[in-house]
Order: sequence, then C-alpha cells, then structure tokens
Amino acid sequence: MVTASAPGKVYLFGEHAVVYGEPAVPCAIERRARVTVEERDEGLRVHLDDLTLDGFTIEYSGDATGRPDVNVSESLVEAGVGYINEAVEQARDAADAPDAGFEISVESSIPLGAGIGSSAAVVVGVIKAATAELGIEIDAREVAERAYRVEHTVQDGEASRADTFCSAMGGAVRVEGDDCRRIEGVDTLPFVIGYDGGAGDTGALVAGVRQLRSEYDFAADTVEAVGDIVREGERALQAGDLSELGELMDFNHGLLSALGVSSRSLDGMVWAARDAGALGAKLTGAGGNGCVVALDETDATETALSYTPGCENAFRAALDTEGVRIE
Ligand code: PMV
Repeated sequence: MVTASAPGKVYLFGEHAVVYGEPAVPCAIERRARVTVEERDEGLRVHLDDLTLDGFTIEYSGDATGRPDVNVSESLVEAGVGYINEAVEQARDAADAPDAGFEISVESSIPLGAGIGSSAAVVVGVIKAATAELGIEIDAREVAERAYRVEHTVQDGEASRADTFCSAMGGAVRVEGDDCRRIEGVDTLPFVIGYDGGAGDTGALVAGVRQLRSEYDFAADTVEAVGDIVREGERALQAGDLSELGELMDFNHGLLSALGVSSRSLDGMVWAARDAGALGAKLTGAGGNGCVVALDETDATETALSYTPGCENAFRAALDTEGVRIE
C-alpha cells in the first residue's frame, strides 16, 4: 500500500490571459490531496473522502465504463472518478501493466472547482501512488506530463499545463504555453484564501473572455496587460518585494473584473481582505465563484474574511515548496 500527496495551487498572476499565450505564475499551497493505493486482482474501487469542505464520502466501484454504486451527484462522480480513471490509465501505461487493478482512497480538503487546483492534485497523487505501488519510480516532471494528458483528455482538450505542473513540482512556477519551469529562490509567500462555497463554470468563463476579446480591441489589450503584470510580478517575486506583489495582485484582479470573470462574492472578499490590511488580493482561477487569494503576514485578513458575508471559509495556505511526494 502506498500513499502519495500533492498540493493545490493559487494563481498569483495570469489566469485567463494564459489561454492566449501570455505567461502565468501559479503557486503551490499547503493544502494537499492524499491518495492511498493498494493493488488488487482486477478493476478499480475508489473511495472519495472530503472532496468539499462540507465533507462527505462516496464509494465507487467499477471501471471506466462502470456506474457508481451509491447515489451521488453525476457531476461529482464525473469530476472525481473521470479524472481518477484516466490517471490510473497513465499509471498502468508507465508501468506497462495494462491489467493492474487498484483500490484507491482519496482524501482532500481542497474545494472542488474553486480555482485552487483540486482535480490536478488528485490526478498527480493517483499517478504517483499507483506507479509506486507497481514498483515504478517516476520523477515529478513525468508525473506532471502524464497528469497534463489526463486533464487534456477529461477536459476535451481544454487544459493548460499550469495546475498539473504546479502540483507535481511545488513552489512558484512560470507557465507559458508548453514551456513550464519553477521560479527558483521563492521560499515563502503568506497566502490567505477566502472561499465562497461555490464553483465557477470554467468553460463558460473562458468563452466569455474569448468573446469580449474578439469583439473589442480594448479587451484584447486588457488580456495583454495581464501578461505585462505577470512579467512585472516575476521581477517582484524574485526581488522578494511583497508590497509590490500585492499591488500587482490588486491590478490583476481589476483587469479580471473588467473581463467579466469576477462576481459580487469574489469582489466582496477581495475588498474585505484589502480593508483588513492585506498587501493585495485577487480572485484565483476561472472566477465566477470559488476562491480569492490575499497576501498577508498577519492574521487580520483571515479573521476579517471569516466574518465577511459570502465567505464560507477562510484559511491560511502558505506557499508549499514541495510538490508531489510519497508519504
Ligand atoms: O479554475 P482553474 O484553477 O481551473 O483555472 C482556470 C484557469 C484559466 O486560465 C481560466 C483556464 C486555463 O485553462 O488556463
């Protein structure tokens, strides 16, 4: 039996613009999905535990074509089991063991579909644990590549490498198209997360930005300006200048808001964080609903968010410099 864990992530800068070839900087956070895998004779049995902050357990047995054996929402089964099935296929392929069967348990406190990389963390954890259970050691880069293939398949070709690369490698990373690398020398970042309890519809939000960008030159310019923020942000990150990072996060949120991907609850949490003295705050991920990320070395932002209407949960989740690991 092998357990692996992998971190979730926030976008420090660059979501949405990354779809059009601009760079983005996601950062791994200290919130992990833990995946335990045990080989069995055949097929797949999956236990998903705590995939939302509300916490519940479902059990699934079957294979890629099977049906869940308990009554849970289709979307949850799709979200969890769809990714897990494909991740298992990648592990079987890596180990040249096409018929390997597994019992898999997933525990995660990363909210689903909320812009902090829940599916990528589960996929990365499954690939690492299942290959290790089969006696194969694959490095974090190979895990990242295989995890990207999983997301690409499950999301019908609409996946960037950001989440999977960041979860596998850990730390602050830079993603520009297929070019992914770690930004060295960044050891700590004091992230605080506010979660509104909802999830954004990534496909619809990406389509909305695409539409605006094709309709208005100033929307296309806005997307390019996000790219400029990312480049400035990388410099501030390497210089360790937290106050400039915060200022650029605020700017990035403003441009995302202009592109129509923020919402009342996300804006409310961003302003509550700023009022509490955060160095900066922005939505993270696709937007719509989900999470904001703020930068604050004190407890003030977390406390303020926990009293903010529309914020279901506030927590500290500092930069995690470690990616996927065997526990
Ligand atoms: O919400 P997330 O973490 O899946 O991030 C979506 C990020 C986008 O840039 C909006 C889309 C993408 O594939 O990069």
